[in-house]
Amino acid sequence: MNACIRAVLRTCLYHNIGVFGILDGYNGLIKDQIQEMKYKDVSNILQSGGTILGTARCKEFHEEKMRKLAFDNLNKNNIDGLITIGGDGTFKGASIFSKEFDLPIIGIPGTIDNDINGTEYTLGFDTALNTIISAVDNIRDTAASHHRIFLVEVMGNNSGQLALHAAVASGAREVFMPEKNEDLAEIREKVKQAIAVNRSSMIIVSEGEVGGANKVKQYLDEYGLADKIRVSVLGHIQRGGRPSFRDRLNAALFGEAAVVALMQGKSNLMVGLMDGKLKFNDISMAEEKGTIENMDYLKLIRKLSVY
Ligand code: F6P
Repeated sequence: MNACIRAVLRTCLYHNIGVFGILDGYNGLIKDQIQEMKYKDVSNILQSGGTILGTARCKEFHEEKMRKLAFDNLNKNNIDGLITIGGDGTFKGASIFSKEFDLPIIGIPGTIDNDINGTEYTLGFDTALNTIISAVDNIRDTAASHHRIFLVEVMGNNSGQLALHAAVASGAREVFMPEKNEDLAEIREKVKQAIAVNRSSMIIVSEGEVGGANKVKQYLDEYGLADKIRVSVLGHIQRGGRPSFRDRLNAALFGEAAVVALMQGKSNLMVGLMDGKLKFNDISMAEEKGTIENMDYLKLIRKLSVY
């Protein structure tokens, strides 16, 4: 997000447009925490995770009167275009706001979950995946030495994108994700098979799916498999750290494109990637949850882990 904030600000200054940063997302809009930003405010932030502006899940923005207050605050600060960066909550808010008020908005998709409809990529996804595969690599040392089965839980907010991609790239034997019907009995057989031949295995579990990795372990424990199985919940390490090349590049592309779109008088759009190219869609498209295009990775995971 920081790389994207930098791209937005620097593009605006290049075109002699003033920029205000809103603190803590929609909360800052409601509370009028809106500050003018200068060139140096974004110096040296490109390489840091998170956002210098802060962020928050803002329940108040669900209320119409609060959105009106937010709009009044934007007017008060003479703001005539809004760029939002965030995930599904941000997009839902931006979409409804764009229908209610006459203010051009461009949404930039930023979430590690990669679950926004209308774009095949959201900022943060690649960095989170790199963190996951590096964590799984480290876990493999124990798994291989002790001949254990690891259930590694990853984030995803009801989307299996992180789990699916991480499973391919980390050489996992199986993946549990919301988009497919999980067959616990099938997994049990695979685990038994692995234990019988004294093999280590990685199973990636998307958070929330079948109750998460601990729930899957509980189920397997009932079949006397507890001894060889361990759980590792990766948690918030996935949401931070230095952004990858891919995230920095897309942050620059999205940020610049959003500003240029506003300058061209475009409004209520989201910028994203489709087939690797920049693409604008109506912002309301992001109200729907994104679907996973490459479910055939499931076959690949199995093909590459059969023994
Ligand atoms: O939506 C992004 C995300 O990282 C999800 O993958 C995860 O479920 C959630 O945020 C965690 O949110 P919080 O930090 O509020 O618990």
